Amino acid sequence: MSGDDQRDYDGYARLGLDRSGQAEAFDAIGNRYDEAFPHKEGQLAAGAWLAESLPPGSRVLDVGCGTGLPTARQLIDAGHEVTGIDLSHGMLELARANVPEATFHAGDLAGLRDGRLGTFDGVTAFFALLMLPRPEIPYALRMLHGLLRPGGLLALSMVEADVDDFSMPFLGHTIRVSGYLRDELRQVVRDAGFDIAGESSLAYAPASTDVPPEIQIFLNLRRA
Ligand SMILES: C[S@@+](CC[C@H](N)C(=O)[O-])C[C@H]1O[C@@H](n2cnc3c(N)ncnc32)[C@H](O)[C@@H]1O
Repeated sequence: MSGDDQRDYDGYARLGLDRSGQAEAFDAIGNRYDEAFPHKEGQLAAGAWLAESLPPGSRVLDVGCGTGLPTARQLIDAGHEVTGIDLSHGMLELARANVPEATFHAGDLAGLRDGRLGTFDGVTAFFALLMLPRPEIPYALRMLHGLLRPGGLLALSMVEADVDDFSMPFLGHTIRVSGYLRDELRQVVRDAGFDIAGESSLAYAPASTDVPPEIQIFLNLRRA
């Protein structure tokens, strides 16, 4: 780990982490998450970019892995070694059933900064960092940068929105989300040490009236 990464980890440790209600909401949502978001074209394309850009057998970390579908499944089917982490025990139970070939850990992604899971060739973080308060997102990105080998890849997705720790209804529960408009998101990932190798966005209307329509942004990133 470089000196810069270490300083960023120290800064992360000084943030007050508030996860109240986040895991409980996803424990209760369970399979309804995949039912509300049945169309995963953007996520599948971003997962395919990462899966095909890495040699088979690469170590890939799936941050906020949810049910393991579609991403952990896609990466395993492409021949990679997958480690997932999620705060919600309910989501992990589904992930272990959906993708028994992967290894899953319960925990807060912030805990990854202790390096206990080793380094990775690739990381996916689909709609996971948006569950953090905004001041934490740059630290989380620096941390993922530190977990990647030089030249390693990060497939990141966020929802385009100028919000910080915003409470919103979500499938009968309340979750808190953060986001950026796309220019700022690009700046945040560059500041964290990533080059942008590709980008796509799509308008998405979830299959539930309880979730508002959203613009999803997918960034294909390389550790600079
Ligand atoms: C919107 S879902 C996305 C799930 C999956 N990545 C996908 O795209 O299908 C967000 C996931 O992140 C998990 N999560 C939220 N905050 C987290 C945190 N601080 N650390 C680890 N996982 C977290 C939630 O439990 C949930 O499973």
